[in-house]
Amino acid sequence: MIKRQKYGDEIAKAEILIEALPYIKKFSGATVVIKYGGNAMIDCQIKKMVMQDIVLLKYVGLNPVIVHGGGPDINKMLESLNIESKFVNGLRVTDEKTMEVVEMVLTGKTNKEIVSMLNEIGGKAIGISGKDGKLLVAEKDTANGDIGYVGKIEEVNIDVIKMMLDKGFIPVIAPCAVGKDGKTYNVNADTAAGKIAEALKAEKFILLTDVEGILSDVNDKSSVISRIDLDAAKELMTTGKITGGMIPKLKCCIQAVENGVKRAHIIDGRLTHSLLLEIFTDEGIGTMIGKECFDDDNL
Ligand code: ARG
Repeated sequence: MIKRQKYGDEIAKAEILIEALPYIKKFSGATVVIKYGGNAMIDCQIKKMVMQDIVLLKYVGLNPVIVHGGGPDINKMLESLNIESKFVNGLRVTDEKTMEVVEMVLTGKTNKEIVSMLNEIGGKAIGISGKDGKLLVAEKDTANGDIGYVGKIEEVNIDVIKMMLDKGFIPVIAPCAVGKDGKTYNVNADTAAGKIAEALKAEKFILLTDVEGILSDVNDKSSVISRIDLDAAKELMTTGKITGGMIPKLKCCIQAVENGVKRAHIIDGRLTHSLLLEIFTDEGIGTMIGKECFDDDNL
């Protein structure tokens, strides 16, 4: 075997590609629902890398479906319009005027920016909201009293996504839903992504977050739980070790896996190329949740 010295760097690159081969084979044709949010939506450099990762996934044969959050755009717009934001239990009180702005920003600005970036890099992206093709049908969420047009997803109709995937497009979805009353509702992007992944029976549901993954010790960032099965994940929820914003995220993943998604992943969107690292390496970089223990994962 000849490994010429002067091609050392190039050979190392080729070896990295070969390392990904078993996963490219395994996940070829698989649907991967990615919740895009947090810092990965704010930092310009990271944003571009996430978009590159998504386009690469598409070109190597996976079917990424993107569901995005609002990022800082909504607050900025509400501020500039002098509309005051009120929150109850971390949820925005959404009156009719606020909902109008939320929808305009999410579907008109944030969504189209993502679509443009993906297209610029060479993907074929289409942006829609949960209202298109009645993808997301919601009812008023009253769990926190009446906080306006905040919706609980009641129905998911994936025909519109399937149609796009069939034609080779990358669907980019803004988390607005149509109400059974015909009004527009704001729905949580994590929940929307999880439900869409369930309805698509996706291979993967990946949450891009601002944390390393699920930590076994909240105070120790190096204590990321790399793999966990459904029962252990449920058990973990009862221990009090999961805190703050991670509670709804883990719940969302548990529900997705319970309802037919093969693997849910909570990964650090602040990390460069986190999607590729999680999908195309054995160890991954975040937390992977699956129904059973993962003997079949060792390729
Ligand atoms: N790349 C493999 C997959 O996507 C394994 C990922 C392992 N991830 C982890 N956090 N342990 O299925």
